[in-house]
Amino acid sequence: MLPRLFRDYVAGGAHGEVSVQANRDAFKKWTIVPRCLRDVSQVSTATRWLGYDCAAPFMLAPVGFAGMMRCGADLMAARAAEKKKIPFCVSTFSITSLEDICAVQGTDILAQIYVFCDREITRDMINRARQCGVRTLMLTVDTPITPLRPRDEKNGFRRLTNPSVAQMLSFARAWRWSLNMVRHGMPVLGNLQPYGLGRTLLEQAKTAASQIDPSLTWKDLEWLRAQWGGNLVVKGVMHPDDAARCVAVGADSVMVSNHGGRQLDPSPATLDVLPDIVASSGPTCSVVMDSGVRRGADVVCALAQGSSLVALGRPWAWALAAGGEATLTEMIDGLQGEIRDVMALAGTTCVETLRSAGPAMLRRS
Ligand code: FNR
Repeated sequence: MLPRLFRDYVAGGAHGEVSVQANRDAFKKWTIVPRCLRDVSQVSTATRWLGYDCAAPFMLAPVGFAGMMRCGADLMAARAAEKKKIPFCVSTFSITSLEDICAVQGTDILAQIYVFCDREITRDMINRARQCGVRTLMLTVDTPITPLRPRDEKNGFRRLTNPSVAQMLSFARAWRWSLNMVRHGMPVLGNLQPYGLGRTLLEQAKTAASQIDPSLTWKDLEWLRAQWGGNLVVKGVMHPDDAARCVAVGADSVMVSNHGGRQLDPSPATLDVLPDIVASSGPTCSVVMDSGVRRGADVVCALAQGSSLVALGRPWAWALAAGGEATLTEMIDGLQGEIRDVMALAGTTCVETLRSAGPAMLRRS
């Protein structure tokens, strides 16, 4: 069974975990109005986003250390996403390297990056993405610092000074789990190994996060835009003015995200800020949202409010922990099936008509 330290790492949020809950509660304020006597014998969940043909309007968001869910988890995610034709974005902090994940046959991976204090590392990561044939970079901008996450603190994931007996036990179980993976040939933090990072796993969360440059500004986004000719997605945008500025710098897509409630706490639920960000992004820049998306109705609700696609973080990590690639495939099928059900009962037969129906198909309680 997945050790508590890793379970809590995935489940947890920052400070009081108010945003984690707020993300879910926001969806509960909306219902979808059933429509009748429309021909819904053929419903398609397919859509196209940034040149990706997606079988369903959702993607797998970047999840650092997802490879700790089980041996080979990053590769399982790549295979499941490829089989089911949904986009998958690999985290900077992936256990398996970008190169090895991209080597999975047929994959068309997106790469998430952070701008590190050492720009040479970032430059190299951009080059590696280019060499791997990656078409889309996703720059995460909501982590200038990593706030206290009480569950990680309790388990000693980020700091272990004067540990209690319970902390030591929790830590020891996670250590044994990691050693077992290394014994099965898994790298410790494969994606960062070229930079001398990623040698001892349980120091990783802290060491890796401390490499992210807190002095990042709009100039750095301009710099990145100049370095990278492919699609650029800016992830972690929660204010309409910031979205407008991303568009001005040349972002192809902005991602409304509060990092699943793991950064600023309390921050607004992403669904609540989505319409303003759609309005300020204009017609040339697509909007994606994540944080708290769990059910087919959530996806439909976000699309009706202007999102082109949604992303899921924790659910795919849990699926891999629970049963590996087969369970993740089931999860993707299950969510796609729910979206199809909701679309049919709401009288829409394709994503385009769903998006153009807009908020008129919803009721807010
Ligand atoms: C994340 N997220 C994240 N984002 C990112 O840009 N780079 C990363 O390395 C990570 N790592 C990470 C680890 C874990 C355990 C979680 C849960 C999340 C954030 C992620 O991409 C996404 O924004 C949220 O997970 C979405 O919220 P839900 O779906 O988990 O509620």
